[in-house]
Amino acid sequence: MDRIRIIGGTPLKGIIPIGGAKNAALALMPACLLTKGTLTLSNLPHLVDITTMANLLAQHGVLMALNGDSKNGGHTGRVLELTANEITNTTAPYDLVRRMRASVLVLGPLLARCGEARVSLPGGCAIGTRPVDLHLKALEQMGAKIELEEGYISARVDGRLKGAHIIFPQVTVGGTENLLMAATLAEGETVLANAAREPEITDLAQCLLAMGAKIEGIGTGTLRIQGVDALHGAEYSVVPDRIETGTYAVAAAITRGDVELIGTRMELMESVVKILRECGVTVEATDRGMRVAAPDGVNGTDIMTEPYPGFPTDMQAQLMALLTVANGASMITETIFENRYMHVPELIRMGAKVNVHGSSAIVRGVPKLSGAQVMATDLRASSSLILAGLAAEGETIVNRVYHLDRGYERVEEKLAACGANIERIKGEAAE
Ligand code: UD1
Repeated sequence: MDRIRIIGGTPLKGIIPIGGAKNAALALMPACLLTKGTLTLSNLPHLVDITTMANLLAQHGVLMALNGDSKNGGHTGRVLELTANEITNTTAPYDLVRRMRASVLVLGPLLARCGEARVSLPGGCAIGTRPVDLHLKALEQMGAKIELEEGYISARVDGRLKGAHIIFPQVTVGGTENLLMAATLAEGETVLANAAREPEITDLAQCLLAMGAKIEGIGTGTLRIQGVDALHGAEYSVVPDRIETGTYAVAAAITRGDVELIGTRMELMESVVKILRECGVTVEATDRGMRVAAPDGVNGTDIMTEPYPGFPTDMQAQLMALLTVANGASMITETIFENRYMHVPELIRMGAKVNVHGSSAIVRGVPKLSGAQVMATDLRASSSLILAGLAAEGETIVNRVYHLDRGYERVEEKLAACGANIERIKGEAAE
């Protein structure tokens, strides 16, 4: 298994291209199941999770063709054509779903198009229990009959799904995406209240509009969908990845560097920009994206994760890395996932001072971290350890980087291009 070796201490200087959003792409790809036409997605990132989704769709009968590259700023994305002319299989098997929870996003489209779907129940995962009960309850409100048998969600509907007024008791990104897709082909009007408002949802809704769906309230907490008889093919470019952007913004700040992130959009991440500015980081929009600089180091601040437009849980681990070397103390409160502090013991091994009490963590800034062997436990925890390694004195080895490869494309190349001393060590790791 690959490892990443970093010698910390170099301020990053230069340009980092930002790719298309993994989480947007993982919702846009299954949207192809809603039509016989061809959905062409550009600015698609090249990541393990995207390949997993492609494999899942292939076994449902989706034909796929890579059709060159798309240019977005300095980033070269992929163009993928997806055609679900005939759906040959409505089962999403355990082996693929267990690798990636987002596989559950085929449930809504399959049910809407074919009247049936069997999807392996996603199990627990490293960052908490993460059930899908809200997806299932909402689909039941639309007339689906759902049973859980042999570890599978087995869903059926006689005829079409029926429009319904759904009030999510809790904001759920995946639940909103599943229901939004299902509702586009339902009979009549569906209202999704307390819907997630993440930019990835807006991206999915815009793509569905391009495919002929009727959706109002895009970008708000209430989505109103008029079901149509059929959708058609479309071309759509994936929104820039706000979490990749935020991660490299922290890389610039934690190394006291000065970096321009290109091919991204600052308005996708106002809550992160606000926190970085509170820490004393310079963040400004440029023609090509945004510039982040922190020549004098950073100050502590308090953060609470919340659904969009609040501070994203997917940036919590990275900001914690930054706050470990800030002046003063900070408090982080995680409200979205339980057990999302698995990076903490690893940061402590690097000299960070962090105390976790339930869902909150107190971080007392130290002048320097020191390099160590650390273990990546999930995707964003991995990036937090890379960031800590960039700032630490001496050598850091991050083990189990396969988590990182699920969500970050060419991470060591992008950082090395800005002066970081970082390399991938291929092969066997000290597990
Ligand atoms: C998505 C993102 C993930 C991000 C998260 C929150 C993708 C592929 N993943 O995950 O990176 O961290 O949003 O921004 O886009 N919940 C339930 N029942 C449900 C569904 C959710 O109790 O049926 C709970 C979850 O356990 C969690 C909270 O709701 O505590 C939010 O989860 P949700 O927004 O659904 O996250 P995902 O869509 O899984």
